[in-house]
Amino acid sequence: MKTLIKSGRVVTAVDDYVADVLIEDGVVSVIGRTLDIEADRIIDAAGKLVIPGGIDPHTHMEMPFGGTQSADDFFTGTRAAAFGGTTTIIDFAIQGKGETLTQGVDNWHAKADGKTCIDYGFHLITTKFEDGDDAEMYRLMGAGVTSFKLFMAYPGVFLADDATIFRAMSAAGQRGGLVCMHAENGIVIDEIIKRFLKDGRTAPKYHALSRPTIAEAEGVHRAIAIAEMAESPVYIVHLSSADALNKVREARDRGIAAFAETCPQYLFHSIEDHGDDWEGAKYVFTPPLREKHNCGELWKGLKMDDLQVISTDHCPFCMKEQKELGRGDFSKIPNGAPGVENRMALIYNGGVVENRISLNRFVELTSTAAAKMFGMFPKKGTIAVGSDADIVIFDPDGETRFGVEHEHMNVDYSSYEGWTVKGKVETVLSRGRVIIENGEHTGKQGDGQFLKRGECGKI
Ligand code: URP
Ligand code: ZN
Ligand code: ZN
Repeated sequence: MKTLIKSGRVVTAVDDYVADVLIEDGVVSVIGRTLDIEADRIIDAAGKLVIPGGIDPHTHMEMPFGGTQSADDFFTGTRAAAFGGTTTIIDFAIQGKGETLTQGVDNWHAKADGKTCIDYGFHLITTKFEDGDDAEMYRLMGAGVTSFKLFMAYPGVFLADDATIFRAMSAAGQRGGLVCMHAENGIVIDEIIKRFLKDGRTAPKYHALSRPTIAEAEGVHRAIAIAEMAESPVYIVHLSSADALNKVREARDRGIAAFAETCPQYLFHSIEDHGDDWEGAKYVFTPPLREKHNCGELWKGLKMDDLQVISTDHCPFCMKEQKELGRGDFSKIPNGAPGVENRMALIYNGGVVENRISLNRFVELTSTAAAKMFGMFPKKGTIAVGSDADIVIFDPDGETRFGVEHEHMNVDYSSYEGWTVKGKVETVLSRGRVIIENGEHTGKQGDGQFLKRGECGKI
C-alpha cells in the first residue's frame, strides 16, 4: 500500500519545508519537493502542517485507584488519543502488592492486548525492588519495558523508601533503563491531610492546599540526589511548580542527567480553578494545581529545555460515582483528570500561537523528545525516511472546540469545557493507515502494536 501526502509543510523538531511524503508499507520511504509517483491514496496537505504523531509518555488506562479505576480502557483511551493527534502512548503498568515485576507487566499486556487503536509501550510502577531483582528487571528491559516509575508519595499504596529507590536506580542506570519519579514528600503530606480533616477542612481545594510546592521541591531534590549517588539518570514526572523546577535546573546546570516533564493542567490551570465548592473535584490530581505564577515559570522551563517533555498524566474519573467517593473528604477523591485528547491542540495554541515556543519546539516537546527519552527514536518521533508513518496533518488555521460534547474520552466532564483554541488535528495516520479523518475514527480496535523500547535517556 502506497500513500502520498502532497504539498504539506513538513515540520519536525529541526526541519520546516514544503514537500511530498511517500509512505510504503507503514513507513516513510521518500520525501521530495515534488514526487511524481503513483500511489493508492493521495492526501492533499497544501496549507497544512505535516507533523510527527504525538507521543504521550504518561497515561493511566484502567488504573485501579482509591476503590475504583480510571474510566478509559485501552480502547476508549487510545481512540481519544488518536482524535487528539497522539499516535503513541506509554502507559504505567503496576506491580501490585505481592506481585513480581513481571506479573505487573503481564497484567497490563492482558488489559491492552487487542484493544488499542495506536501503538503503545509500558513503564512499570515498581513498588518493591530488592537486591537480586536486577536480573528480572533486565529481562523486562529485554522485552521492551525500559523505564520504571517509583513513588515518594502515597504511603501504604505506592510509596517506595529511599533504599528501594536507590537499588532500582542503580540497577536501571547500569543498562540504559530510566527511573521516572513521582517526587513529593508523601509522608509529610499525609500528616497535613490528617490535620486538615481533623479541622473540618474537607472540600476539594484542600487537596491542593495539603500538598505544598515545597513538598514537591523536596522530593525532586531527593530524587536527583539519590540518582546522583546511584550514578543513574532520573526523569521527574508531572512536575508542577517553579520550586520543583528550580531543583531540576540547579542539577542540570551542574551537568547531572536530571530530566523532567510537565503537563497541560499545570500550564493552563491554577489553584483558583478549584473554587470553594464540590465542582473543584474535577481538578483533584497529584501534584495539585498551583498558584498562577507557576504556569509562566513552567513555560520558561520548556523554552529553555529545563523541562524536556509535555505529557498528560491522563487518568480520568467521572464526577458521578467516581469523584463522588470523596464528597465530604477530599482525601478520598480519586486522583486524576482526563487530557490525552486535548494535549496537541492545547500546546499548539498556548505555545506556538501565543508565541511562547517555536513550531519546532512544539514538535520536540509533544513527540520527538519523548521518543528519544524512552528509546523509540527514530522509529517514532520524527518524519524521516525509514521512520514509522505516524503522521498528523494539522490545520494551523482550523479551530478545536473542547467540551464533553466534542471529546471522546470516557468521562463525564472536560478539563477545558467551553474552550476554543486555534489549530485542528485534521487527519491522523498510524503506521501509514489513516485512522482519523473528517472527524471520524476510521481505524479499529486492535490496530495498535506493543512497542519494545530500547535504551532510555538518549536525548
Ligand atoms: O493524580 C494523578 N496524577 N493520578 C495518577 C497517578 C499519578 O501519580 O500519576
Ligand atoms: Zn505520579
Ligand atoms: Zn500519572
